[in-house]
Amino acid sequence: MSITIALSKGRIFDETLPLLAAAGIVPAENPEHSRKLIIGTNRADVGVVIVRASDVPTYVQYGAADIGIAGKDVLIEHGGAGLYQPLDLNIARCRMCVAAPVGFDYAAAVKRGARLRIATKYLLTAREHFAAKGVHVDLIKLYGSMELAPLVGLADAIVDLVSSGNTLKANNLVEVEQIMPISSRLIVNQAALKVKHDILQPIIEAFKSAIK
Ligand code: PRP
Repeated sequence: MSITIALSKGRIFDETLPLLAAAGIVPAENPEHSRKLIIGTNRADVGVVIVRASDVPTYVQYGAADIGIAGKDVLIEHGGAGLYQPLDLNIARCRMCVAAPVGFDYAAAVKRGARLRIATKYLLTAREHFAAKGVHVDLIKLYGSMELAPLVGLADAIVDLVSSGNTLKANNLVEVEQIMPISSRLIVNQAALKVKHDILQPIIEAFKSAIK
């Protein structure tokens, strides 16, 4: 029996390495330096697949991967069907925010009940946030570089992840509302958790001890 772990490259992969090491798992390659999508590890019974961050829940949901690591942002948009989420790993931390151009009085626009155009990749998160606040919005779906939208008149504001704040600053935008803190979680295929319990449970336990 063997298991497959779905990871995305970049911050999640880098910050997952110490957790994997705690479980005795060392990937054979770093996806930053290789185009390979299937990566072996020091353990014959553990493999890694490299997928887009937003695709990690889908691979795990359908059992193409047994476990994965995905941001809360991605999990909210996916919906979480078929996924067991035993651990907040507290890695790849950032925040989901509303941001607008410097000089745009967001609070005043909300107060007078203006209808706002919001560009975002995170439609569900944005819809829920503005509905809860009673703000009228037209959501425009984008797939990246959301910061551009208010600069060229496509939107009044954006909903996006902010980490250092450098991207907002470089584009003359400011955070006007924080929606929620974001971190990455371990997700497990519910069927695999039963069938592959003997391999998965020690890994989950090792992760649990490592994040304490
Ligand atoms: C994220 C996010 C912002 C940026 C924020 O994009 O969408 O653009 O990081 O980080 P900062 O506050 O440290 O500048 P990412 O680089 O993950 O790429 P994406 O546009 O594909 O999501």
